[in-house]
Amino acid sequence: MIKADEWHLVASTEDIDEEDVIQVRLDDLLLAIYNLDGEFYATSDICTHENTCLSEGIVVGDIIECPRHQGRFHIPTGEPKGAPASVPIPTYPVKVIDNKIYVAVGDSSEWNN
Ligand code: FES
Repeated sequence: MIKADEWHLVASTEDIDEEDVIQVRLDDLLLAIYNLDGEFYATSDICTHENTCLSEGIVVGDIIECPRHQGRFHIPTGEPKGAPASVPIPTYPVKVIDNKIYVAVGDSSEWNN
């Protein structure tokens, strides 16, 4: 179970156009928040290849393309989908209530319990 205090308000749904991504900072954590046809997703904003913000890249379908070397990641799962990306990016649970987007960050080992 995700604990109530692990959900953080990060944006409003109208802040992110369809097929777009924004950066949100939660303390030291940089997140990328995506709108894919009205479904919202959150990943780490830091490319696992080198230290580059994915939110400055482009969204193509359900893929984020890194602006630096064009590595690609599957947004819903974080899986790498194109070289030189080879290590998944962390993903985070998202919920939308009254057009507000909340992301759960906390102890990921507890999310599936
Ligand atoms: S820094 Fe993202 S693919 Fe190289």
